[in-house]
Amino acid sequence: PTVYVITPTFRRPEQIPELTRLGQTLRQVKNLHWIVAEDAQVLTPVVRTTVEKMGIPYTLLVAPMPDEYISKPGHKPRGVSNRNAALQWLRSNNITEGVIYFADDDNSYDLELFEEIRKVKKVGMWPVGLVTKFGLSSPVVKNGKIVGFYDGWIGNRKFPVDMASFGVNLSYLSKFPNISMPFSPGYEETGFLRALNITKDDIEPLAENCTKILVWHTQTKKSKPAEKAAGAKHNNTNIPFLLD
Ligand code: UGA
Ligand code: MN
Repeated sequence: PTVYVITPTFRRPEQIPELTRLGQTLRQVKNLHWIVAEDAQVLTPVVRTTVEKMGIPYTLLVAPMPDEYISKPGHKPRGVSNRNAALQWLRSNNITEGVIYFADDDNSYDLELFEEIRKVKKVGMWPVGLVTKFGLSSPVVKNGKIVGFYDGWIGNRKFPVDMASFGVNLSYLSKFPNISMPFSPGYEETGFLRALNITKDDIEPLAENCTKILVWHTQTKKSKPAEKAAGAKHNNTNIPFLLD
C-alpha cells in the first residue's frame, strides 16, 4: 500500500531546512506520496521548489488557519486547517487505498517507521520519543493488546497520544466522509481518533509491540537572524566583511 504522508507547514526561518531534511528522508521510501499542506494564503514558490526537487510523488495544498484562531491569544490549533485540507484532497480524489500518516515538518523519522505504517489495516499505533518531560509517549501493550497509554499529559483524553504516533488505513477512513480534525488545541489527536469510532481493541500495536522508537518529536531551536544582527554589540559585526 501507498503511504500518504500529510505534512502541515508554515512560514518561519526554519521552514525550508525542515522540509529539506524531511524530504530527504521521504525520498528514500518506496511507494510514498507526500502531501505538503501550507498554512498560508497562497502557495509559496520556495516550498514548491524544495518539495519538487525531492523527485517523489507529491501534492501541494494551501489552507490558512482561520482568522478567529489567529487573533485569539494563547494555544493555537496549529496545522489543523491544513491537515484537514489534505483529508479533503484524499476524499475528492476518491483515494480509498493506502495508509495516511500525519508527519509534522520538524520531527525526526527512522526509515523503518514507514514500513510499520504500511502494515496498518485499520488504525495502527507506535511510540514517539522526546514528547513532554517524560521523554516518551507510547501505548502500553500487554499480550499483544493495547491496555493503556503512557504520556506526560493525559489531560482527560481518551487517546492521549501524539500526532506522530498513529496511521490510518484509507479503506477504513473512507467510511467516514465527514471526518476532520477538531480546532481544539491539545485535543486534535484524540478528537480525530474518537471520530473514527474505535476502541483500544481495534488499534494495532506496531513497531514490535510498541517497543521500538522510530519517530522523535524533535523541536528546532528558533533562529532569529535579523534581530540578532540588529542587536550585535561589536563594531561592524552586522555588516559584511569584504576582502580588498
Ligand atoms: C504539538 C504536538 O506534540 C503535536 O502532536 C501536534 O502535531 C502539534 O502540537 C499541533 O499543535 O498540531 P509542536 O511541536 O508543539 O507539536 O507543534 P509544531 O511542530 O509547532 O506544529 C505542528 C505542525 O503544524 C508542524 O508541521 C508545523 O509546521 C505546523 N504548523 C505550526 C502550522 O501549519 N501552522 C502554525 O501556525 C504552526
Ligand atoms: Mn513540532
